[in-house]
Amino acid sequence: MTQHLATTDRPADAPADAARRAGWWRDAVIYQVYPRSFADANGDGMGDLPGIRSRLPYLRDLGVDAVWLSPFYASPQADAGYDVADYRAVDPMFGTLADADHLVADAHGLGLRIIVDLVPNHSSDRHEWFQRALREGPASPLRERYHFRPGQGAGGDEPPNDWESVFGGPAWTRTENPDGTPGDWYLHLFAPEQPDFNWEHPAVREEFHAVLRFWLDRGVDGFRIDVAHGLVKAAGLPDLGTHDPLKLLGTGATPCFDQDGVHEIYREWRKILDEYPGERIGVAEAWTPTARRTANYVRPDELHQAFNFQYLASSWQAGALRQVIDESLEAMRPVGAPTTWVLSNHDVTRHATRFANEPGLGTQIRTAGDRELGLRRARAASLLMLALPGSAYVYQGEELGLPDVTDLPDEVRQDPSYFRAEGQDGFRDGCRVPIPWSGTEAPYGFGPAAGGPSWLPQPAEWAHLSVEAQTGDPASTLELYRAALAYRRAHPALGGADNLTWLDAGEGVLSFERSTDDGRTLRCTANITDRPVTVPTPGELALASEPLTQDGDHTVLPADTTAWWTTG
Ligand code: BGC
Repeated sequence: MTQHLATTDRPADAPADAARRAGWWRDAVIYQVYPRSFADANGDGMGDLPGIRSRLPYLRDLGVDAVWLSPFYASPQADAGYDVADYRAVDPMFGTLADADHLVADAHGLGLRIIVDLVPNHSSDRHEWFQRALREGPASPLRERYHFRPGQGAGGDEPPNDWESVFGGPAWTRTENPDGTPGDWYLHLFAPEQPDFNWEHPAVREEFHAVLRFWLDRGVDGFRIDVAHGLVKAAGLPDLGTHDPLKLLGTGATPCFDQDGVHEIYREWRKILDEYPGERIGVAEAWTPTARRTANYVRPDELHQAFNFQYLASSWQAGALRQVIDESLEAMRPVGAPTTWVLSNHDVTRHATRFANEPGLGTQIRTAGDRELGLRRARAASLLMLALPGSAYVYQGEELGLPDVTDLPDEVRQDPSYFRAEGQDGFRDGCRVPIPWSGTEAPYGFGPAAGGPSWLPQPAEWAHLSVEAQTGDPASTLELYRAALAYRRAHPALGGADNLTWLDAGEGVLSFERSTDDGRTLRCTANITDRPVTVPTPGELALASEPLTQDGDHTVLPADTTAWWTTG
């Protein structure tokens, strides 16, 4: 897998040193691997750690700095591994702890860092503490580690408060006492198989300190913290006063999300991260109402990064994008944290499909829309994102321009939110379909045998989207990503948080300059309209998401196209 090295400027023999740079996370490109769907080494249809390990050279050659792995821990998979039964064990479907160790070692050898997912808001209902809490009955002290409460009304038949699960339905499930009588209720902001921990309990805090150390000792470079905004609930668990379903993962200020008390937890975690050499990082998955609230998670003594979900949720419209970019940079400035940018992940409809549909449909979309338009806009959006200051997240398959699979039959779907919402919401399986690597027949190199299984079916038209099909084709989305990441690598000064100057480029066009280290500038211009625009050619063309035409000393930028020039 060395054939792509020409597209990066990282020499194969010195990657580890290059990646050990101070503040590495401030401008890192972090690639999200969804282990179920990345690469299946043993041919059972489910991705696994040895599969990921075998594909690490691809990620090195793509030019990313770090890899974030969604959970691979022991789990009954009620929510695709976000229901953890044992935080120190690898689920056999993904491999072994030794596989995880080899993966970290191989990645480091290639100059890649590894970020693992940590799920501290809730455990699986199969976690030993929860199982014992149920078995031992109402007097069990282990119940204090979760939120058990008596029900309301005659006979305690009503849930303790009016909170709704993010996945639909009540956020409470009633237990049965060991003698078979109806018992107390327990809180789960997600599926009933995901009971929420009580973070007021010291044993919960101590356990997670130990879990952090367990993985830090194994060499991981950081943690993506699942539902980081949910750990602390308002005292007394007061009613919300509404029965409107909570938006995905909670976007408003509520008694269950974004309580100020969470920050003390991350201050303790930061001290632990700082005990280890090499700048181990914490990344908050915190869905908050504003970028300012998000900035609270990345104050200097808390976590390092937080996902920019305001950016992810923005439509492909110049005004909206300009506003969210400005607000994001502005919000992070006082706390000195880098801005992050993200367009897709395993919880939302891929951006190639979001932008193929009319704006305003949110992040759970069940219609394919205009695929060609969606891909064109996705390429333009990615090039715009990768020119912005700070750190960027790339979700596996977006570098191939993959769309969501919007027509999965119900019988293959696994997303619990789809079933709890009676098929009206929760289309997350569509972005989780295994990615195509090679060949003309499913599973397209995802698994070892042609015609072999994959846990979600891949569409027939994915043959021409495979890594193999796109490699070496300068017009492909994969080569566009490779070239963009190589450019970032060649110009480390682009990472600087405040290094961006907007230019006036007319209605519907975003244009800005960034200074590079050699005294020149990167000019990025995105035409976010549906018609061509003509701009003065500012310098030497570095990259464009579509072919451009030259008109004397002007360039014609087609509709939905982004270009980078080196100027000065
Ligand atoms: C994860 C989801 C998961 C939920 C509950 C989210 O933030 O990204 O995939 O369903 O947390 O753990």
